[in-house]
Amino acid sequence: MKALILVGGFGTRLRPLTLSMPKPLVDFANKPMVLHQIEALKAVGVTEVILAINYQPQVMLSFLEEFEPKLGIKITCSQENEPLGTAGPLALAKEKLLEEPDKPFFVLNSDIICEYPLSEMLDFHKVHGGEASIMVTQVAEPSKYGVVIMDEESGQINKFVEKPPVFVGNKINAGIYLLNTSVLDHISLKPTSLERQVFPSIADKGQLYAMVHTGFWMDVGQPKDYLAGLGLYLDYVRSNSPSELAVGRNIIGNVLVDGTAKIGEGCLIGPDVVIGPGCMIESGVRLSSCTIMKGVRVKRSAHVSESIIGWHSTIGESAQVSSMAVLGEDVHVNDTMFLNGVMVLPHKEIKTHFLKPEIVM
Ligand code: GDD
Ligand code: MG
Repeated sequence: MKALILVGGFGTRLRPLTLSMPKPLVDFANKPMVLHQIEALKAVGVTEVILAINYQPQVMLSFLEEFEPKLGIKITCSQENEPLGTAGPLALAKEKLLEEPDKPFFVLNSDIICEYPLSEMLDFHKVHGGEASIMVTQVAEPSKYGVVIMDEESGQINKFVEKPPVFVGNKINAGIYLLNTSVLDHISLKPTSLERQVFPSIADKGQLYAMVHTGFWMDVGQPKDYLAGLGLYLDYVRSNSPSELAVGRNIIGNVLVDGTAKIGEGCLIGPDVVIGPGCMIESGVRLSSCTIMKGVRVKRSAHVSESIIGWHSTIGESAQVSSMAVLGEDVHVNDTMFLNGVMVLPHKEIKTHFLKPEIVM
């Protein structure tokens, strides 16, 4: 069975992290986002994952070289010369997908973190017998998603509306699809949208079905959702493999710490914190609801809350970083600085306080 992951978006909403690498490679809970998906696909018997890429191909290719042997699954790239949207990449990879004409294939958005109920989806697809299945989930604020109007009993979708300006329902497209290869007959090799063109037309034919997912789900493609998703993910780890989480007098709630990170005396860490490989967390540091990526140094008595600290950055002694601040790669915050809700571009040094949200270029 094959799967295609759409990894070609520019990830603008996750800047400044995506200035250093494509969104699917940004770490989530200490592993590239897309790895969470590839592992889940492998677990249900997918033998080849096609990454539909559109920019920074060299970065993606080196990711492949590293992880293909580690994961023991075939990973190939299908590269666009221009952005083909969410459907065009399927036409580009048509030949590969048609190698198994009688088997449906998975398509995933690359920024979705959830429990990936993929084997349930395979069963669901078999039972309804339609051309396409999409996973849906319920959210309170549906306007930034694709919304489906469906028959609750059969799951048949009557209407698919991408990012509706007015409320039409709160069951949203969760960005995970299982499609028969016949769907490829209706997609041509040009910029095309699954959500705006392909799904509405399959729904018109009565061939599009929705499987409702009730477990945790989050599109982590923007900082606020990334941190919310991290909280949900760590809760899930707590229920399923609690031994992965840190324990100790200084740990509050769910905290994930890479084995190579060092934590000093008198720190208070948690809840909902992830600390990456090689990090140095010095004494007296307070961390809550944040991700500290690989190679970061947090100096003595600094506080970081509700923020993402990019790779190899330094937070100065007694500095405070809070309220959805996102620091790009290799940012250096001087001692005692106060950063509230700022976005800092890679390789910057912060020498003054930033009291309100802004972009530091
Ligand atoms: N290869 C390729 N080429 N991939 C692309 C392109 C492109 O031109 N444009 C976008 N993608 C990829 C992105 O990398 C991402 O994995 C996926 O397509 C969806 O793009 P997003 O930019 O993340 O879309 P969204 O979050 O606004 O909305 C989508 O996801 C929602 C669920 O999170 C839609 O599918 C909505 O219907 C859905 O509800
Ligand atoms: Mg998204």
